[in-house]
Amino acid sequence: MKIVVLAGGISTERDVSLSSGRMIYEALKNNGHKIVLLDVYLGYEKEDVGAIFEKQEDWAKEIGAVGERNPDIEAVKALRSDGDKNFFGPNVISICQAADVVFMALHGQNGENGKIQACFDLMGIRYTGADYVSSALCMDKGLTKELLDYHGIPVPRGISLKRGEEDPRSVPFPCIIKACCGGSSVGVCIAKDEREYEAALEEGFRYDEEVIIEQYVNGREFSIGVMDGKALPVIEIAPLEGFYDYKNKYQAGSTVETCPALLSERKTKEMQFLAEKAFQVLRLKNYARMDFMMNEEEEIFCLEANTLPGMTPTSLLPQEAQAQGLSFGQLCEKIIESALK
Ligand code: DAL
Ligand code: MG
Repeated sequence: MKIVVLAGGISTERDVSLSSGRMIYEALKNNGHKIVLLDVYLGYEKEDVGAIFEKQEDWAKEIGAVGERNPDIEAVKALRSDGDKNFFGPNVISICQAADVVFMALHGQNGENGKIQACFDLMGIRYTGADYVSSALCMDKGLTKELLDYHGIPVPRGISLKRGEEDPRSVPFPCIIKACCGGSSVGVCIAKDEREYEAALEEGFRYDEEVIIEQYVNGREFSIGVMDGKALPVIEIAPLEGFYDYKNKYQAGSTVETCPALLSERKTKEMQFLAEKAFQVLRLKNYARMDFMMNEEEEIFCLEANTLPGMTPTSLLPQEAQAQGLSFGQLCEKIIESALK
């Protein structure tokens, strides 16, 4: 199969995406596919000029992608064409159009928020992951929580606050403040007092025009991937220090992950049921990953849905698949197979 792995972007998760992209690229290449790993600078203002690409993959040459490889990640570096004010240049589109499927390894703004997905729909390009509606919805943590709550899926109590809006200060300490449309915990802080609260708001607004402020759930953290509507085994995440922030997510050895999680069968089933229900009500398809907290009273709260979950060496979904007997390469194949159904 001819596959484009789309990675990079300009979101705060660019590096995470490049790591996911490289893993997927290697796995699919080993499986015998013809692959191009495209490093895209979506919406990048300064850079430009054509598709610059890697070690001359045969079919990349065939379709006329020209340029030079990005030695840092062994990828094609695809940049906007000169003068093109659109976020997504014709070079990228034409390369993607020549593929049987685009494997979406983008995380965060512009890659995971539905914009590219909508563009691909219009262009007849097939891709992995959620469609544009679910992508846009799940990128907004506030909207996601409202919909989950409406459908009876427990979420931490909280509010959304736009920059400049009056803050009702209705969420007691400790609370957690998150950039509304962020990922990988960038722009996320816990506040236990007034001083931390002010600093956390400032941090959140560095990344977004809106933040969510929610009750901090003290307890154990879990995550569950869902493939084709069916929950994978539950994984428990226990950082050695602090919370599951960017460093603890991507620095190997800083978090203990246990899969299947050491939970009673009843709690496991309950969490998997909630993950599957969230997948359904958020109109997700193909695959996604839901994050949960469980407090000391064993109440479960769904935090959010990740429509393009990380596929890096420390990421959770691949570990869950492994616990079910699926290697990383088999997981990628399964995602593609389901996306093309
Ligand atoms: N946003 C990161 C990539 C994740 O959810 O895994
Ligand atoms: Mg997330």
